[in-house]
Amino acid sequence: MIGRLNHVAIAVPNLKAGIEIYANVLGANITEPLALPEHGVTVVFVELPNTKIELLEALGEDSPISAFIERNPSGGVHHICYEVDDILVARDQMIAKGARVLGNGEPKNGAHNKPVLFLHPKDFCGTLVELEQV
Ligand code: CO
Repeated sequence: MIGRLNHVAIAVPNLKAGIEIYANVLGANITEPLALPEHGVTVVFVELPNTKIELLEALGEDSPISAFIERNPSGGVHHICYEVDDILVARDQMIAKGARVLGNGEPKNGAHNKPVLFLHPKDFCGTLVELEQV
């Protein structure tokens, strides 16, 4: 049902410092920062030949990653994103198999301006899973 790995997301306490590491130490190309108030994050994408790494920094008062950063002050892997052809079909199939969708269950537009959903980490081996319709 799921397709390619779209990205691995790493939450960081400081986006500038994260960009510095990926650009200068690891020598990667990085997109311009993009604020996503609806998701409570500012993101950049590290562009790799076979996938992307999303660096996430908290944006606003009630960012969904603030608590994560409190628990992981240096940052850490936050979620992985798999591509699906049809996000509503994928969602309904996964719900039918007992998976829980976070939020109100309706897709929101993500960083690539495509519909995304998040699945409960307890249902997926302890890892927060994002689905993106491509
Ligand atoms: Co993501």
